[in-house]
Amino acid sequence: MATELTRQTEEFFNKVLNTNASNQEILEVYKDWARIYDDSAAILDHEGPSIVAKEVEKLFEEKKDALILDVAAGTGRLGAELKKNGFHNLDALDASKEMLEIAKEKKLYRNVVCDLLGPNRLDIPDDTYDAIITTGSFCPGHLNGSCLAELIRIVKPDGYIVIVLRKELLDEEYGRDLLKIMDDHVSSGRWTVVSRRPVPRYIGPKDGMVFVHRVK
Ligand SMILES: C[S@@+](CC[C@H](N)C(=O)[O-])C[C@H]1O[C@@H](n2cnc3c(N)ncnc32)[C@H](O)[C@@H]1O
Repeated sequence: MATELTRQTEEFFNKVLNTNASNQEILEVYKDWARIYDDSAAILDHEGPSIVAKEVEKLFEEKKDALILDVAAGTGRLGAELKKNGFHNLDALDASKEMLEIAKEKKLYRNVVCDLLGPNRLDIPDDTYDAIITTGSFCPGHLNGSCLAELIRIVKPDGYIVIVLRKELLDEEYGRDLLKIMDDHVSSGRWTVVSRRPVPRYIGPKDGMVFVHRVK
């Protein structure tokens, strides 16, 4: 059974790593992956949720009622980490209804929104959240730099956006484009850099990169 899970995990993971896949093709993969996603994340040693949860703890310390949106929340692994640490005002957004169904069963989030992040406008008012957090989401075929303006719009002034991604992506065109858009938002005064730093073992042996920005 464990071997079969490992085989399926590798198959799904390779599919989402396909750099040419469209949003729709990626969502087709998560539709089938959802039922074993949590087991797969353990097999892949995907530490994104605990890395982000530590950042949230540092940013909000005793403010456990901070209103936080978990973007590309998937099955709610990050929500579970935050809840363990006492954060209880959490919303989730993801484009996959199958992944969100699993998250909903865990009863971690206040509101669960099924929507695709891209250049389109979300049905969320300006300046809503104290923070947006996301892991496992900024990679080809998923979220990209064009999503940042919309995330900034729905975060309150002085709120935070925390993004963790695979560090190796920064050496590729995808990551260079993302960094450029991040920097453009700094230059145009939309946000400031709080920290940008590597973290070891984000997923298996692969390092991650943590970006924390503060919205103006
Ligand atoms: C690798 S999973 C990560 C899930 C969760 N954050 C975690 O760490 O367990 C990526 C998630 O991103 C979602 N996703 C991909 N592209 C998206 C988009 N454009 N808008 C919203 N969600 C998206 C997928 O549906 C999937 O649930």
